Amino acid sequence: MEEKKRNSFTGSIGFVLAAAGSAVGLGNIWRFPNLAAKNGGGLFLLVYIVLALTFGFALLTTEVAIGRKTQESPLTAYKKINKGFGFIGIFAYLVPFIIYPYYCVIGGWVIKYMSTYLAFQGQVAVADGFFNGFISDQWQPILYTIIFTLLCFVIVYKGVEHGIEKYSKVLMPILAILVLFIAVYSIFLKFTDPSTGATRTGIQGLGIYFIPNFEGITFGKFLKICLDAMGQLFYSLSIAMGIMVAYGSYMKKEVNLSKSINQIEIFDTAIAIFAGMMIIPSVYVFAGPEELSNAGPGLIFVTLPRVFDSMGSFGQFFGLMFFVMVLFAALTSAVSILEAIVSSMMDKLKWSRKKATLIMALITFVVSVIVCLGYNVFYFEKSFAVVNKGQILDFLDYVSNNLLMPIVAICTCILIGWVAKPKTVIDEVTLNGEKFGRKWLYIIMIKYVAPVLLTLILLGSFGIFG
Ligand code: PHE
Repeated sequence: MEEKKRNSFTGSIGFVLAAAGSAVGLGNIWRFPNLAAKNGGGLFLLVYIVLALTFGFALLTTEVAIGRKTQESPLTAYKKINKGFGFIGIFAYLVPFIIYPYYCVIGGWVIKYMSTYLAFQGQVAVADGFFNGFISDQWQPILYTIIFTLLCFVIVYKGVEHGIEKYSKVLMPILAILVLFIAVYSIFLKFTDPSTGATRTGIQGLGIYFIPNFEGITFGKFLKICLDAMGQLFYSLSIAMGIMVAYGSYMKKEVNLSKSINQIEIFDTAIAIFAGMMIIPSVYVFAGPEELSNAGPGLIFVTLPRVFDSMGSFGQFFGLMFFVMVLFAALTSAVSILEAIVSSMMDKLKWSRKKATLIMALITFVVSVIVCLGYNVFYFEKSFAVVNKGQILDFLDYVSNNLLMPIVAICTCILIGWVAKPKTVIDEVTLNGEKFGRKWLYIIMIKYVAPVLLTLILLGSFGIFG
């Protein structure tokens, strides 16, 4: 058989933007701001940044290095490092497989909202029950999910350089500009509540976000903040789902690995911080401080449309920009999930990209229709409250994020920290004689600190810390 050359990103920028595209997703937009508002504002930001520079940096470096070293996708890469650890690959392959169909369903919801604003129908989205009515409709969510999956399909089908890299290079800079613009605009917002006569300003909202709030902080509470920050970081960097291994395997050997990792981290953290600057002040000003505790789909599909509506005529435009931005974020993340699966199928089964992508499109279609029907035909309770616990989507989310991902990451730390030894990764990072500035930190993190923190996350998901 003819030996095929592995796809690759053309250079460092292509890799960084594609990986940042994966990292910047719904988690940055609907989870990060809410966690920060809930967890003492600036205090959470501080903890998050420290963890990103230590814990996040170690895990991200490990995964990208495993990919580049083995030149294999997640399903087969771990086995190549050590025969006994091939099972990590199976878990790391399962995670994107579980996440992808429901991520596409949410992507479909985003398209629905974007098109609502595109048609200048933003006021419709504010109506009571619009969101619940939409997700419990039998056909609409399926239709929009299909549109979203088709977009992902086209990008992955075109390959690494002509698909993923090309689109990330266009979408990510636009996304960054949109977030920045909306964030700056939010600071200047002002609103006088007609019922109370009180005026709330964007600057006050910004204060809630940035100023550390130590009120009532006990040691236990501080631990909980750290746990929330770790969980968020983990999810936000797209770690433990095979994605960074797959993208690492497309990274050219001459690219400076540790510099690229720093850039991805800066990009992801900066977008998360700006997302908070755009969401917290606007929700605070127009919906009041109580709404800040609202997270998840409820925040962007229910609260924010109300915020846009109270902005007057500019709100339509603002809403449209916001949902375009969310769509770009969701699309580049979904593409990375699909790529992790497709690349594994190509490596393991020796399928062509076209065949693997097509087959995955069919599987996704079936599973995501089931997820959509989870809000009507397969709904387990009578009422349609905003994304109840217990729906198919929540169940898939729990299994992948709370169980499988920490397990994959713990096993990866054991493999690299203790079995194959940190040198495996360090050699790959310094392949061309590059400097690995935080080498000592890397060793301590991967051997001791990260496994302990990850075990805490895993225990946390069993509800042990309340
Ligand atoms: N990292 C993405 C975010 O912050 C989430 C994601 C999940 C990306 C699953 C890819 C796969 O939203």
